[in-house]
This record gives sequence, structure tokens and C-alpha cells, in this order.
Amino acid sequence: MLILSIESSCDESAVALLEIIDNIPKTVTHLIATHDHSAYGGVVPESASRQHFYFIPKMIEKLNKEFDLKKIDLVCSTNQPGLIGGLMVGTCAGKALALALDKPFMGVNHIKAHAFSAMIENPTLQFPYICLLVSGGHTLLIELQSATELKILASTRDDAMGELFDKVANHLGLGFPGGKTVEQYALKGNPSKHIFKLPKLKNDLHYSSDDFSFSGLKTSFIRCIDKMENITLQDKYDICASLQDVVSRICIKKLSKYMETSPITQYTIVGGVAANQYIRKYCIELTQTYNKEIFFPSIGLCTDNAVMIGWTGYLNFINGVQPNLEVEVKSTFG
Ligand code: KG4
Ligand code: ZN
Repeated sequence: MLILSIESSCDESAVALLEIIDNIPKTVTHLIATHDHSAYGGVVPESASRQHFYFIPKMIEKLNKEFDLKKIDLVCSTNQPGLIGGLMVGTCAGKALALALDKPFMGVNHIKAHAFSAMIENPTLQFPYICLLVSGGHTLLIELQSATELKILASTRDDAMGELFDKVANHLGLGFPGGKTVEQYALKGNPSKHIFKLPKLKNDLHYSSDDFSFSGLKTSFIRCIDKMENITLQDKYDICASLQDVVSRICIKKLSKYMETSPITQYTIVGGVAANQYIRKYCIELTQTYNKEIFFPSIGLCTDNAVMIGWTGYLNFINGVQPNLEVEVKSTFG
């Protein structure tokens, strides 16, 4: 089966051609352009929409020159959640292409696509498994029961994990998005110089103590940075090391609860923050302690990409989800 997929939910424009034989996906081509929003310290939705409008048709045109697009069996676009302008550009492009080629069209949920992304390169990862999804926009712990059934075990009450990286990095003057730079700075830092406590959450009417929360930590980091007079490069390295360390401890705390009690043996960590090698190392050690398995996508499939959109469209398609040209775009997950 040959699938053309489009991703445009945030600040990456991407188009992929994916060939799937005997349930094994092979990326035929993957075109990706990351927009530069660094001058603004965050993604500017209007600018992102315009950049998708620039890049996506160019990418499709390039594919059209190199491949016979009539051979495609399915066209997929991210249709939720995300920035609405970008979703509209990618979904309209996908629908137009499906109409022109007379092929089925499938809207794909970006969060599910991240959650399935570790399967692409790891065929031994099978349902049911538990996924920790940590990106710039979302932080979720999910039990994937099948390609169509998922149970949210925990989510964030406020900021996403990637947002914590980005906001602290921004406050240190490290640019946007800052996660990758934090990882590089942390290599030269001492994580014990500043110890940050894990957030403690209580159960109440609306929230569970299992939730994630990062806004308190964000404030603690910002206060700690603001208290430093004449902040040195070594101070920045140390703050970055502490940030990575406290986030790793949060991941371990959440995962160990399920590793202790759940019969599920396979785990994945996905999304942009899963690219972080320090967090990976800690979580790999944890799974060894509990005799469980953990899988990560390669770095290019952690951050936003069109390959995971094509793979999720395929999983939907073979599990009976009907292609639908009428599907709408939505900024929300559900
Ligand atoms: O999944 P993604 O590309 O986009 C969303 O769907 O949000 O995730 C982007 C997030 C950003 O917050 C970025 O700073 C973070 O992932 N990130 C990292 C690393 N690489 C990207 N965070 C920590 N360590 C990294 N190496
Ligand atoms: Zn994403």
C-alpha cells in the first residue's frame, strides 16, 4: 500500500510517501521544513499558516515530478489537534489531491500519530502498550489498547513538558524552541547544584493526583534564574542540567507506578522531548529494573513529521475507519 501523508499542525510542514508491505512501513521519501519563529519566542499561528501555504504545495509539486502519484492508495492529512490555520492548509491540500487522483482521504489525529510513532521502526512493539507522550503542546500518559482504542491515564493540568523546556530556555536566552539547546548545555552542567522538588498534586473534584503539572516548576526555575546576579555560562549549564534531571525524575515516577502494577510489558516515550538522551537513559534503566521493554522513535520521528501521519492513516484504514472527504479540522484533541 502506498500512502501520501501531510503534517501541518504546528511549525513543521511535511509531506511523506510511505510504502507498507506486510505491515512493515518503509519511508520512500519525507520532505520537511521547520519554520523559524525564534524571533518571537513561540510559534506565531498566522505566520505558521502562511509558511504551510508556501511549503506544502511546493513539496507536493516536487513529489509529483519524482513519482507517479496515480499509484497512491490513500491520502492522509493531520486534521486535529493543532493550530487551526495550519490544519486547514494541510487538510485542504490532502483533500484536493485525493479528489484530483480519485483516491480515498483520511484525516489523522496528531496525538494518536505520536503515540503510534514508535511502532514504525520497532515491529515488535504491539498493542497493548503504554505511551508517555511529551511534546511542546501535550503531555499525556496513554494506554494503547488497539489501533482504535486508547485510554488516557494522565495528562497535564497546565503547561506541557516541552513548554517547560522552551520557557526556561527562553528565560536563559537560549532561543526557541529550546529543548535541544538545554540538552547540549546540560552536558556541561551539574544537576545537583540546584535541586528542584517534584510537584505534589492532590485529588479534587476535577483533577487527579496522577496528573502532570509544570507551571509551578516553571515559576521555580524562573525565580532561581532571576535571583542570580551576573549569570555565567556555567550557571546556565547547571540550570539546564537540573531541568533535565527533574523532568527525568517526573517521567520515572509516572512510569514506575504502571510498571509496578500493570501487566502491560511494553512502553514507549514519544514526542519532541523524547529526543532527549538523558531522559531516555533514565527510563531505559527503569524498564530494566522492572523487566519491561521500552521503545523510542528515532530523533526525526520524535518531533513532528509526516511519516507518523501516514502510518496512523494506515492503521486506521486497515482497522475499519472509513476514509472521509467530509472530515473537518479541529484545534482540540477530542
Ligand atoms: O513533538 P514536537 O516536535 O511538537 C509538538 O507537537 O509540540 O515537540 C516539540 C518540543 C519543543 O518543546 C522542544 O523544545 C522539545 O520538543 N524538544 C526537546 C528536545 N528536542 C525537542 N526537549 C528536550 N530535549 C530535546 N533534545
Ligand atoms: Zn507533535
